[in-house]
Amino acid sequence: MDSFTLADYDEAAQAILNRTAQQPRIGLILGSGLSPLADQIEDAVIIPYDEIPHFPVSTVAGHAGRLVMGTLAGAQVCVMQGRFHYYEGYSMQQTTLPVRVMQRMGIGTLIVTNAAGGLNPEFNAGDLMLIEDHINLLGMAGANPLRGPNLDAFGTRFPPANRVYTPALRRLAKEVAAANDITLRSGVYIILAGPNFETAAEVRMVRNWGADAVGMSTVPEALVAHHAGMDVLGISTITNVAIDDVETDAEPTHEEVNEAGKLIVPKLMALLTQILAQLAAQ
Ligand code: HPA
Repeated sequence: MDSFTLADYDEAAQAILNRTAQQPRIGLILGSGLSPLADQIEDAVIIPYDEIPHFPVSTVAGHAGRLVMGTLAGAQVCVMQGRFHYYEGYSMQQTTLPVRVMQRMGIGTLIVTNAAGGLNPEFNAGDLMLIEDHINLLGMAGANPLRGPNLDAFGTRFPPANRVYTPALRRLAKEVAAANDITLRSGVYIILAGPNFETAAEVRMVRNWGADAVGMSTVPEALVAHHAGMDVLGISTITNVAIDDVETDAEPTHEEVNEAGKLIVPKLMALLTQILAQLAAQ
């Protein structure tokens, strides 16, 4: 299946809404190792992806593969516990399908999280980074989720992308972090296809391009959300420092990423609950 019709997105949206009396307003995508965040949701309605029409099924260890709807910090949320990655073999349209489904469900705000390797020399494993902007290396190379027939019901054929991450939400995240003594870095996220981690030369290259963190997700979903008129907030968890020389014995592993994710969850949770509480009060 290469692309979906508006009817496909609506079919999935309706199937989800039929399972709950709630009207979620905020969508949340949880990255590698961050699934435990969804356990905090009250009055949870849980829908495995294989029960939703057109949803692919997530194949990565550490990604649960279900939708959790309920209340988090007073906000009605729809949380993706596990996302779809391009490296799993899905098309970009499949990777981003849930975002369009959320939009058709009436969700106006998307919060995207991920695990990322730190490129900025100031960053340490365990840091949180607000995504100010991104470099869509995959999109620039042709794997853009907006490629193909444009669905005008979502947005325009040639959307701007200079402010994918909503300025007001970036401000809010910084204010909330400062008020709660949470250290929040900020920077540019770059997506690479994966599934291999970067070579040392690739790490040096993307750092020189101005990227502060590197990962294998988020950009397609953020772009599709922005195209569809949603507000977008992106937060990277720096699970490891990207390795930029070929002599060291160290190497990144998925287990390391998941372990670091567990340690970062409380920090991310503290930040997100404060942000959600502010959004719920608006
Ligand atoms: N590179 C790419 N993706 C990642 C990394 C990394 O170092 N860490 C977590 N996801």
